[in-house]
Amino acid sequence: MASYLVTGVAGFIGRSIAAALLARGETVRGIDSFITGKRSNLEGLEAMEFMEGDLADPAACAKACAGVEIVFHEAALVSVPRSVDDPVSSNRNCVDATLNLLMAARAAGTRRVIYAASSAAYGDTPTLPKHEGMLPQPISPYAVAKLAGEHYMGAFTRVYGLETVVLRYFNVFGPFQDPTSHYSGVLAIFCRRMLAGEPITIYGDGEQSRDFTYIDNVVHGNLLVAAAPAEKVSGRMMNLATGSSSTLNETVEILRDLTGYRGQPAYEPARAGDIRDSLADIRLAEELLGYAPIVDFREGLLRTIEWYRSGGGVE
Ligand code: UD1
Repeated sequence: MASYLVTGVAGFIGRSIAAALLARGETVRGIDSFITGKRSNLEGLEAMEFMEGDLADPAACAKACAGVEIVFHEAALVSVPRSVDDPVSSNRNCVDATLNLLMAARAAGTRRVIYAASSAAYGDTPTLPKHEGMLPQPISPYAVAKLAGEHYMGAFTRVYGLETVVLRYFNVFGPFQDPTSHYSGVLAIFCRRMLAGEPITIYGDGEQSRDFTYIDNVVHGNLLVAAAPAEKVSGRMMNLATGSSSTLNETVEILRDLTGYRGQPAYEPARAGDIRDSLADIRLAEELLGYAPIVDFREGLLRTIEWYRSGGGVE
């Protein structure tokens, strides 16, 4: 009987959490629909029970949650521009999927659901750093969908007593992130293209900033949440990031140094739905979990580049 379920396990965050659980000898089940997840990301997770299934299907959720004590809900359509192009799919795969999962978790007697939320919920307000007490101001359909999921988590705790914890991620990057799609995260695209000596494009002036968070920090935070007592974390929402940020222009310079890239980025107009600056206040996670980042930005970039350099991310 599986004790842990990881949704979106063929995505890079889900697979990284599953790998960490397996390394601790835990019993893990994973589910993925392969809408954006990659079969190649399952390599190394052979000890896990894998289920192909779509969370928009309540029957798949029921099967996935059977016998599970703790769920890490990482499945989503993660891209802002993708949601601008197709808000209905974004809603189906983020909102419908999350509600179905919660219904199934409750029916199965699951104890805790840990939800991958997004800093996109803060929107484009000028206040930095973003702290959890700020009023959400989602801009993109993606941000709305991820925020709706947060509210469902809160409701299931208050109304049904299911333990839920909401973690707002900020621009997670690292090995196993897909670099091949137009919708991929910027660092996955830049690392791969700069290593290959291919052109890169910056949307906007490059002075937009992000709290780029290396994957190990996110895995670490999730494991702390799984182990934390309910009275500390259940029904809570908190940022999970590094508490420092870099602009895209600065990041390109670091990557240039690490990859030896000689090209110049092309600058194109900013993307619709894009936010300007993003930086997390991480004091709440520190207070509730004793969380602090374990890998800094440059070291994270170094490890990510090494992974792409050794052939990672190639289909
Ligand atoms: C990202 C995540 C989103 C997450 C959010 C949390 C991805 C794909 N998106 O959104 O799931 O919830 O952080 O804050 O991981 N850019 C370029 N050139 C490119 C690609 C992107 O200049 O080739 C720019 C974008 O316009 C944007 C910035 O880089 O200004 C970051 O874009 P992206 O990696 O797509 O992430 P977010 O939109 O911040």
